[in-house]
Amino acid sequence: MNDLPIEVDDASVVLGNTTILHDINLTVRPGESVAFLGANGSGKSTLVRTILGIYPHATGRVELFGVPVTHRKAVPWNRIGYVPQRVTAGSGVPATALEVVRSGLLGPAKAMWADRGRKAKARAMDALEAVDLADRAHDHVQVFSGGQSQRVLIARALVRNPELLFLDEPLAGIDRESRQSLAELLGKLRAQGLTLVTVLHEMGELEGLVERTVVLADGVITHDGPPLPPDPHDQQHPHHAPKIPIHHAPVLSTEIGGQS
Ligand SMILES: Nc1ncnc2c1ncn2[C@@H]1O[C@H](COP(=O)(O)OP(=O)(O)OP(=O)(O)O)[C@@H](O)[C@H]1O
Ligand SMILES: [Mg+2]
Repeated sequence: MNDLPIEVDDASVVLGNTTILHDINLTVRPGESVAFLGANGSGKSTLVRTILGIYPHATGRVELFGVPVTHRKAVPWNRIGYVPQRVTAGSGVPATALEVVRSGLLGPAKAMWADRGRKAKARAMDALEAVDLADRAHDHVQVFSGGQSQRVLIARALVRNPELLFLDEPLAGIDRESRQSLAELLGKLRAQGLTLVTVLHEMGELEGLVERTVVLADGVITHDGPPLPPDPHDQQHPHHAPKIPIHHAPVLSTEIGGQS
């Protein structure tokens, strides 16, 4: 068994009657930082969900840490964090920021990351500290702004100290200061060896953290390598995409529960 964080081999994904991803090949090595780029609908989120086994692949092979994602029980989910696109922490039952973050530690009773009283609370507080929300720990997330909710969910993904972290559009809808502090935090985690997969429309504050870009167009990888220099004639290029306000769509509650 290898220990590659991500290995995708000739995977295609069919949703409904449409092939959304075509023959995807992608290997991500420990400590790499990869950004998925591409126009709306190009398949970035679908690729993340496929890697996480949320969407089935019709062909090929998808593995996390050497385990096929189809063997869900064998996948080491405690090593993996995921913040889906466009979520709000505040839907559903009333909960404080601390409770939401702590819920990231819930798992099978015997799991090593499972919630264990005071220690779990301390870890959740550390994670909230990391996203600059420790002072809001006991506030209800229902009253949080979009950006604050996003930061709570990032803390929730970090609370298990993942080795592999997926962030789908982490910069969307959060202010410049929060984007900078997120970039700083991710930089620190990268220095400790975190493998990072981000979905981005623009590199923005995360530019310095991205060493490899995977560009998708209509479900096909059209570039995989060092970030491309911006092309001034290409309006579709992520660097030059017109700045459209991000639409905050309703959330699928199933996504918030994560994948454990
Ligand atoms: N569950 C689904 N069933 C059918 N089609 C889907 C499903 N999920 C996604 N798609 C389709 O797959 C295509 C790619 O969607 P995806 O969400 O991966 O795009 P994206 O690159 O993340 O776009 P954005 O930048 O807007 O987030 C779209 O055409 C979308 O309609
Ligand atoms: Mg998307």
